[in-house]
Amino acid sequence: MLILGIETSCDETGIALFHSERGLLAHALHTQIAMHQEYGGVVPELASRDHIRRVLPLIRQVMREAGARLDDVDAIAYTQGPGLAGALLVGTSVANALAFTLGIPALGIHHLEGHLLSPLLASNPPKFPFVALLVSGGHTQLMRVAGVGEYELLGETVDDAAGEALDKTAQLLGLGYPGGPALAQLAGQGRAGQYKLPRPMIEQMHKTGNLDFSFSGLKTAVLLLVRKEAPDAAGKADVAASFQEAIVDVLVAKSLYALEQTGLDQLVVAGGVGANRRLRERLDRAAAEEGCTVFYPEFEFCTDNGAMIALAGALRLDVGVGASLLANAAERSYAFTVKPRWDLSTLVS
Ligand code: KG4
Ligand code: ZN
Repeated sequence: MLILGIETSCDETGIALFHSERGLLAHALHTQIAMHQEYGGVVPELASRDHIRRVLPLIRQVMREAGARLDDVDAIAYTQGPGLAGALLVGTSVANALAFTLGIPALGIHHLEGHLLSPLLASNPPKFPFVALLVSGGHTQLMRVAGVGEYELLGETVDDAAGEALDKTAQLLGLGYPGGPALAQLAGQGRAGQYKLPRPMIEQMHKTGNLDFSFSGLKTAVLLLVRKEAPDAAGKADVAASFQEAIVDVLVAKSLYALEQTGLDQLVVAGGVGANRRLRERLDRAAAEEGCTVFYPEFEFCTDNGAMIALAGALRLDVGVGASLLANAAERSYAFTVKPRWDLSTLVS
């Protein structure tokens, strides 16, 4: 079965063709980073307009690269939410229009489910059940994943997401957008032990078993530190390194505790912050000490992309709503809505 994946939830237009037996056939991505850079962040209206410009040429490109024709496609999977409403509308309307024309199902995918399942695209994928650490720009969650659509929330951030804290701190240090990778790069030149920053909610976790996160206090601590010290370039690198280490400490401690609590030995890390090399280094080491294995998506599939959406579509077409849409043309409707806010734990198989 051949699935076309369309991702337009934020600042990346991602398109992919995934074959349920042959795997990923082709994928293409256009990032809007250069366009938003001068504004210091994503401008939603510009994002929507750019998705409109890119989506069809990228679909053509992917078809060409895979040597496939639209007629060969059996279903279209698209990101229905969460994300920017206008941006989501582009992928959602193109997906439904194409699917209507081709007489095939269009399946709305939860963006975070795409991230969650993205390590399954790797050559050595994890097996269900596993613990997933989801660390994207807007979300920091630990989930117990028993199968497609079987997600139990173990803990999540009560305020800022780790990615958001990284982005805001990067901005504070004058690093611009996108902040996470720039902060990580600067941190590589700094000394992590130079500044003492809080490790929120670790102590509490050991007392109560609570797996929630909180990063806004840490973010404020850095703000106060920068105001007080007014660091020079070398000092800023030390701040970046100390901050990254604090975030990584919390993510590692909570992930390991989630493995212990669930008795599982596989950890999947998904979402943009999962591209962070220091996080990977520390998680790998800590997990190995406990006899656990950590799985990551390929670097290119850590941040937003169409491949994870096509994959999630392929897996969803085997279960629940997906399976009945595929089998039963009468059940298909091409009326569509987007879900800018959408809780992953409401998803069922
Ligand atoms: O998953 P993603 O691409 O988009 C969302 O769905 O939100 O995640 C974006 C987040 C941003 O906060 C970005 O700064 C962060 O991932 N990020 C990183 C790195 N690459 C991306 N954070 C730390 N280190 C990186 N190398
Ligand atoms: Zn994402």
